Amino acid sequence: MNARSSEAVSTDARARFDGWLDRIRRGAGGFSVRTKILGIVLALTTVLGLVVTWQVRTVMTGVLMNELDNRGQSVVSDLAARTSDPILLNDTYGVFELLDDTVANHPDATYAFVLNSDGRVVAHTFGDAGFPTALLEINPSGDLAASGYLRLETDEGLVHDFQAPILDGRVGAVRLGLSEDRLSGVITGITTQMLITTVFVGLAGVAAASLLTWLLTRPILDLVKTTRDVGAGDLSARATHWADDEIGSLGVAFNRMVRDLEANRDTIADNEAARTRLLEQLIDAQEEERKRIARELHDGVGQGLSSLMVGMAVLTKSSTDEAVIAKREELQALAEETLDQVRQLGRELRPSALDDLGLAAALDRYAQDFEVLHPQLSVDLHVDLPGRLPPTAETNLYRIVQEGMTNAARHSSAGQLSVLVTRRNGLVKAIIEDNGQGFDPVAARRKGRSVGIHGMQERAELIGGKVTIESGRDGTSVFVEVPV
Ligand SMILES: Nc1ncnc2c1ncn2[C@@H]1O[C@H](COP(=O)(O)OP(=O)(O)OP(=O)(O)O)[C@@H](O)[C@H]1O
Ligand SMILES: [Mg+2]
Repeated sequence: MNARSSEAVSTDARARFDGWLDRIRRGAGGFSVRTKILGIVLALTTVLGLVVTWQVRTVMTGVLMNELDNRGQSVVSDLAARTSDPILLNDTYGVFELLDDTVANHPDATYAFVLNSDGRVVAHTFGDAGFPTALLEINPSGDLAASGYLRLETDEGLVHDFQAPILDGRVGAVRLGLSEDRLSGVITGITTQMLITTVFVGLAGVAAASLLTWLLTRPILDLVKTTRDVGAGDLSARATHWADDEIGSLGVAFNRMVRDLEANRDTIADNEAARTRLLEQLIDAQEEERKRIARELHDGVGQGLSSLMVGMAVLTKSSTDEAVIAKREELQALAEETLDQVRQLGRELRPSALDDLGLAAALDRYAQDFEVLHPQLSVDLHVDLPGRLPPTAETNLYRIVQEGMTNAARHSSAGQLSVLVTRRNGLVKAIIEDNGQGFDPVAARRKGRSVGIHGMQERAELIGGKVTIESGRDGTSVFVEVPV
């Protein structure tokens, strides 16, 4: 493998390892802290318990089996020494008694028997069941003159079969069977006890971990709930102070932050209220000023011009001079045109119809003037407003519709403009729709130059309403909604 490919393999392995880590992190992240801690405690106690049990079992098995083997060797050697005399004396019963005593007094002994030098059984402890001849085929040392040991699998379990020669094998040999059963039972008993202890320790661990996680997660869960409440807008929510630990400090810092936030919100609300009040006063003052100027124009300049025209007519009535008559007519026409312009200016500043006859009449009048001023636009006006609205609502709605119509005339290059104003279920709705080129309202607002649109919105909000603008290639629609 060359350097490059080994590098590729290591990058590959790292990527796989990272993938695994990521998967474990994502998998563990799905569980709550309580489940994670309980899971870890349970897994640790189980693994620890099983490993310790297995280790103790292995060590104990080794020690006890070793001890069984040592015991077997010593008992069978002793038996070989003690049976030599009765065998030499041909005292078969004495041999049997020795064997029987040994088996009776030894807790693990299952059988014992003596073979003579020909390999024939001289005495055994199998009793009425008879000697199992299969045992003769098994020879622990392969030679009667040697000591030996074999582990046999029998119907009654595992048996350690020991052999010891009698007088170096010249007389025969003794064999002794020691069963593993008792020791296996002891080992199984200890193992069971250890497993039961593991289960109890595991349960105690889970109980302790539950208590610990409850103590740990209670302030965290409380903090999470408070965070949610604050997120939902309840700035009066506060985290409970459970203890002076790290989580307690976090709660204190969080509470301080929410307190500051609440104070800031109150300040912003106060500022906003003050701004709205100021805006209201500003708009009122502007309307009042417009009203005053319009009245001045009508009552002062208008009246003056009218008197001028009457005076001119009286002055030149007696004259028959053609030139004087022509001049009078010219001056009268000029005065009339100026009077018209003054009236128009007065209406634009503040239509008296708005105060005297209401929004519907004022809009009607405005639309007529508008068509004269913008002959390229045909205006389709429908106003369905039974009764009068509050004066502020009338003024603001009038100004909003006026701005919408002016915008269509100035920016849309449209041929048609439709204005619909209705009143239903305590809501006045106005729609100003042109079939012009459209524009991007969001971008226009972002540019910060849209004083007109901004003013429409401010006015609508002042009287609790809103303005929505939809614009596309087919034209622009301005929707106004104001509760009355
Ligand atoms: N009906 C419309 N059709 C096309 N463009 C429009 C329309 N209404 C507004 N706009 C665009 O949005 C911009 C912002 O309009 P806005 O009324 O806020 O400001 P303005 O009309 O340019 O100036 P003013 O402050 O005198 O009203 C306009 O300059 C124009 O480009
Ligand atoms: Mg405008």
